Parts: sequence; structure tokens; C-alpha cells
Amino acid sequence: MKNKITIAIDGFSSTGKSTIAKLLAKKYNYIYVDTGAMYRAVSLYAKNKNIINNISLNTNKLIASLNDISLKFVYNKNLGYAEIFLNGDNVESEIRSLEVSQIVSKVAAVSEVRKKLVIAQQKMGKEGGIVMDGRDIGTVVFPNAELKLFMTASADKRAERRYRELIEKGDKVSYEDVLLNVKERDRIDSTRKDSPLIKADDAIEIDNSVMGIQEQFNEICKLVDQKLL
Ligand code: DC
Repeated sequence: MKNKITIAIDGFSSTGKSTIAKLLAKKYNYIYVDTGAMYRAVSLYAKNKNIINNISLNTNKLIASLNDISLKFVYNKNLGYAEIFLNGDNVESEIRSLEVSQIVSKVAAVSEVRKKLVIAQQKMGKEGGIVMDGRDIGTVVFPNAELKLFMTASADKRAERRYRELIEKGDKVSYEDVLLNVKERDRIDSTRKDSPLIKADDAIEIDNSVMGIQEQFNEICKLVDQKLL
């Protein structure tokens, strides 16, 4: 029996990657890393320093600032997963706003940003026993991961999920804006030059437009168990 494997989960935004990843990490006692949170935290930094707004991104300034950005995950026992800290501040909640969602794809398209974050991600996963979710985990970060999943769902379904989450948090957003953002991020994430969102050849695709969490989780656990044999 293998000890600990690497599980790479990629896919479009709001396909429930992190929900599945957290459940897997809990069941198998693996470390969970939400790489989207890292791109979001860099975006929050850029927003707070006026390096980016809705209209423009000062790419050179962002690149020059990268050494001033320190990211850390700290495990929260009560939540059961790690929260992200940006230069010492817990920004877990702030990075989930629609405002950050509207700029993150532009920041994530900058190669220097990706290089810095990919190195950090590879370091976190070098011992295996990790569930990492993102857009390029099975293609770039861990091309040799033992199990690769690629999650999809219709844009409407994903916008509906994200809209509900934001409303429950008390954010004042419209469904139309959320849907627009989901589609725009799909477009930018899939067409960027560096590490575009694509399914790795050996990834297993899971379309969860009409699949519940428990059903998906059961199917995925079977896949993990096969890899652990
Ligand atoms: O998973 P998420 O929606 O929180 O990710 C936010 C953005 O970060 C997403 O639009 C694309 C980018 N991202 C990326 O380019 N590569 C990753 N490995 C993870 C996220």
C-alpha cells in the first residue's frame, strides 16, 4: 500500500473544488492547499497598493513588489482547514469578495506572479500527502501527481452557487454580475499564455452540474483508494 499520494484538483471557478478537497484532506489526513487563495491574496495586495483597479494593472509595479508579499497558511482547528495570511494579516474572508474576483484573473496571468507561487506550492507538496486545488496543478505544479481530477459544471450553475455564498456572507451583489464574472474569469483563465486552465491528458473529468457533494465525494474516494492500493 502506498503511503501518501498527491491529489491535484483543477477546474473552472465555483465547481466545488475546495469543498471536495477539504473533505478529502480530512478523510485521508492530508494537507489541503487552496492555490486560488494565494492568487487572490496577491490581488488583494495589488488592490490595496493601487497597483490594480478595475481598468488597469501596473504589471511592472506588481513584479517589483513581489518580494514584499509574504503568504502563509495557518491551520485553524475550529474550521478544520488552513487560512491564508498576507504579510501577517488573516485575509481569508477579504479575498473572497466580488471585487477581488474581478481582478484576480489579470493578476494570475502575470508569469512572474505564477513563478513565485508555483515554487511555493511545489515546496508545500514535496512530501506528498497533499490535496491541492487550482487551475494548473495537474499540468504545471505537480505533473506527476498520482491522481488528477478536473471539475466542470455549467456557468449558470456555478454562478448560482457563488451568488448564494456571497449573499449568505452579506455581500450586496447581483446574480447578473456574478454570472458575468464567472464567464469572464473562464475566458481569461483558459486563454492566458502562461499555464492556461486546461485538463491534463491523464485527469479524470467530473461534471457536477447535477451531482451532489456526497455522490461526488464517494466516487472520488473510490479513485483515491485505487491509487493507494
Ligand atoms: O479558485 P479561485 O476561484 O479562488 O481562483 C481565483 C483565481 O486565481 C482564478 O480565477 C484563476 C487563478 N488561479 C490560477 O490562475 N491558478 C491557480 N492554480 C489557482 C487560481
